[in-house]
Amino acid sequence: MNCRSITLLFAAIVSMITVTDLAARNVKIDTDNSSIIINAENGKKLSHLYYGSKISETDAANITQALGKGNLAYPDYGMITLPETAIAMIQPDGNMTLDLVVDNVSSRKENGANITTFTLKDTYYPIIVTVNYRTWQGENVMETWTEIKNNGKKNVTLTRFASGHLPIRGGDVWLTHFYGNAKNEARMESSPLEHGLKVIKNRSGVRNSRYAHSEVLLSLDGKPAEDKGRVIGAALEYNGNYKVKIDTDQSNNHYFFSGINEEDSQYILTPGETFITPPLALAWSSNGTGEISRNFHKWARKHKLANGERERKILLNSWEGVYFKVNEKEMANMMKNIADMGGELFVMDDGWFGTKYPRNNGSAGLGDWVVDTKKLPNGINGLIKEAKKNGIDFGIWIEPEMTNTKSELYEKHPEYIIKPANREPVTGRGNTQLVLDLANPKVQDIVYTVVDTLLTKYPEIDYIKWDANMDILNHGSQYLTKDNQSHLYIEYEKGLRKVLDRIRSKYPDVTIQACSAGGGRVNYGFLPWFDEYWVSDNTDALQRIYLQWGISQFFPAIGMSSHISASPNHQTHRIIPIKYRTDVAMSGRLGMEIQPDNMTDKEKEQTKKAIDEYKSIRPIVQFGDLYRLLSPYDDKGVASLMYVNDSKDKAVFYWWKTRTFANDMLPRVLMAGLDPDKNYTIRELNRIDIKPLSFEGKTYSGKFLMENGLEIPQNHKVAKQNETDWSSRVLLLEVNN
Ligand code: GLA
Repeated sequence: MNCRSITLLFAAIVSMITVTDLAARNVKIDTDNSSIIINAENGKKLSHLYYGSKISETDAANITQALGKGNLAYPDYGMITLPETAIAMIQPDGNMTLDLVVDNVSSRKENGANITTFTLKDTYYPIIVTVNYRTWQGENVMETWTEIKNNGKKNVTLTRFASGHLPIRGGDVWLTHFYGNAKNEARMESSPLEHGLKVIKNRSGVRNSRYAHSEVLLSLDGKPAEDKGRVIGAALEYNGNYKVKIDTDQSNNHYFFSGINEEDSQYILTPGETFITPPLALAWSSNGTGEISRNFHKWARKHKLANGERERKILLNSWEGVYFKVNEKEMANMMKNIADMGGELFVMDDGWFGTKYPRNNGSAGLGDWVVDTKKLPNGINGLIKEAKKNGIDFGIWIEPEMTNTKSELYEKHPEYIIKPANREPVTGRGNTQLVLDLANPKVQDIVYTVVDTLLTKYPEIDYIKWDANMDILNHGSQYLTKDNQSHLYIEYEKGLRKVLDRIRSKYPDVTIQACSAGGGRVNYGFLPWFDEYWVSDNTDALQRIYLQWGISQFFPAIGMSSHISASPNHQTHRIIPIKYRTDVAMSGRLGMEIQPDNMTDKEKEQTKKAIDEYKSIRPIVQFGDLYRLLSPYDDKGVASLMYVNDSKDKAVFYWWKTRTFANDMLPRVLMAGLDPDKNYTIRELNRIDIKPLSFEGKTYSGKFLMENGLEIPQNHKVAKQNETDWSSRVLLLEVNN
């Protein structure tokens, strides 16, 4: 019998004496499709009894008789030392134990959500911990976090402080998580949970989704499927270092924890101070992983993502077109080109700033946000004027959290960078890049002022690409005291949030993209301040299908910047025709990242038509429900997904061939999410074939399409000289009344 069972056995003995009382203290917290039941009995341990689909009062009343007495809801370290725990601290007298018991339960409404708070107090020391659950009813997302208060007169040291914990009954539970690296982000990996400790963590300090994501899926009925099986989706909303851990011990459960990575980050909690953990968002589905994604997407658009209910513009970004070779003539040329193709916004990327240390490559200039007038004699105003002339908006790239050793900022203020005392700093990109110390309020002001100055000086700036191209490579703050060096990562993240709060309260309408050497900042923690995320510096259309598949598990298409780029592709050197590149980009927030001068007139014409057609499907893609139909990871030769609008009278279907073999037997893809009783007329978008598809203009019921799909030809019918080994389709389905 392990320690958990001992605790529970003890609880069971107590509960036998006070059964009615105990039942009355079972607190059930619901969304429309899920419930969590917590047992909170004054003076006793807080225990978790149930998390699953919404449960009736009758079933809830006898829950312990059916499923057992549960487990600790927020396990504390010390009095039972063997299991993994969510919280641990060292008291001023050196005592390393906590013994938290229930003191109070309360609930309140806040911004359209219900919050239930369980207040726990230590049986000896003046420590108060609240465990909170916030429910978003219709979006079916719950958030849990804790607040840890030191009510004593001396410092205590927090050594573990998870945001949330879930015991998950063992069986055939699979974990899906996302790992990768620059240009290969968000690779999905699913495997059964086996005995031992599984840890997914981040220690970058700056970009927390570059190597692994904090979002995970736990499929309780074996191998994950899109449309069947019980699934828990868990996403830690945090911009700093995190740790997700799942302990599978010899008991019946997996023990899931998620929160700030406490390694090298112990936190000194001063008298009266409260430490608030970042929220952990949870969603439940009894119908596979697809429903988890749809709930997260809805919740993101409605409550998390900045301007989540506003359509995104179609843009051209200058990066892959000119890299650092920004100049006025080229910018004007690109603006004209994107405007001619029907785009709505031009974004000037890196390379526009620096006077003493011009930004001609990645090794100089960060921190000196002054226009390089050699490249841009008429400054930003000249560019804005040009954008206006073309009837489009203007956006700009910045990387305000960073500097280079070759910069005026660093020359004047070497004390503003992150570095350990008595040592030279470790540099990043260009062997000169450094991270500014956002723990320092003066540095927070500097970063805020960079953005504020740009936006006040040039109020027409419509869009900011906010980049962050470095990890915190060495541990040390020149601002924090010697006793608080372990606060570095936590204070950096807090400082960043303070800056972002100030910017957003003054400039709520500017579109801001979270970029971090590609997809390093795709996390719910960033969403409240950012309108979109750059998911990778890899723009290869084929690899993007995989990348965006991973990102789509938790993040909505409206924020997923997806750009048409050059062929051969700059990252993979793959040659892909414009049709296929466009068909992939059209499944997210469409944009371009290319030198239009290198496109043929025919390619431009085709892109113009596609942009025009994208505008007609934009509301479906950006606000619709996602149904993933056939995964590229299944290696069936095809990947496919669709978006369906709320009223289910419009949908867009995407089909991309992912390999080419002669006489390959490709599966026919069944549609999903349609109204079985509605009739949909099919129209192909971005068509290149000489002859329309056989079902073009034909009408089928939702039921038929979901049970049979449509036979998609493997190749395009085009003139002999235009034939390639690539094939893709975008179909619009509309109910004609
Ligand atoms: C990062 C970004 C790129 C680009 C460059 C500019 O690598 O991910 O998209 O903006 O910086 O230096």
